[in-house]
Amino acid sequence: MLSTIFERRSIRKYLEKPVEEEKLRTLLRAAMYAPSARDTRPWHFVVVRDRAVMERFMQVQPYSRMLEKAPVLIVVCGDKTLEAAPGYYPGDCGAAVENLLLAACELGLGTCWLGITPVAQRMAAVKELLSLPEHVEAFCGIAVGYPDETRQTAERYDESRVHRDRW
Ligand SMILES: Cc1cc2nc3c(=O)[nH]c(=O)nc-3n(C[C@H](O)[C@H](O)[C@H](O)COP(=O)(O)O)c2cc1C
Repeated sequence: MLSTIFERRSIRKYLEKPVEEEKLRTLLRAAMYAPSARDTRPWHFVVVRDRAVMERFMQVQPYSRMLEKAPVLIVVCGDKTLEAAPGYYPGDCGAAVENLLLAACELGLGTCWLGITPVAQRMAAVKELLSLPEHVEAFCGIAVGYPDETRQTAERYDESRVHRDRW
């Protein structure tokens, strides 16, 4: 588990190899085991394999060109009627996303987080694209596929960001 945390990197090049349905289910299950405020689990996941929908997503999220090759896009959404209190779902969804990214890494899959929240224009465009209900907001996209690149991780531990007992 620790090695997965230290070795995970964003993958932006993918093989033309489909992702098995069973692996996808494991990713979603891992996401749903994340902590959430008061255990409200205010998330939904839209699994996109439709190339036309992915093409539209690339138009509204300008940093998602890797979807040209990625076989799957998962759009993580927050449900405002389920969150513990207003403003909690981004933290909850973020925890779910990280669980999913790490699970994918363990299964030999590559992923890339594609930001949507808090950019209002992207949130509105993705909401319309996926026909999300009024109370559901698009939090982020995740490109998923078998990696066609390997990336090294430089040391990220930064002692200057650690404060002991007080700042
Ligand atoms: C909130 C958020 C939004 C991101 N949006 C994008 C994006 O739109 N396109 C992209 O290629 N990567 C995106 N990333 C991935 C980051 O660029 C990446 O995590 C960062 O450069 C660190 O690299 P690593 O994931 O390989 O450790 C996003 C990451 C986060 C957490």
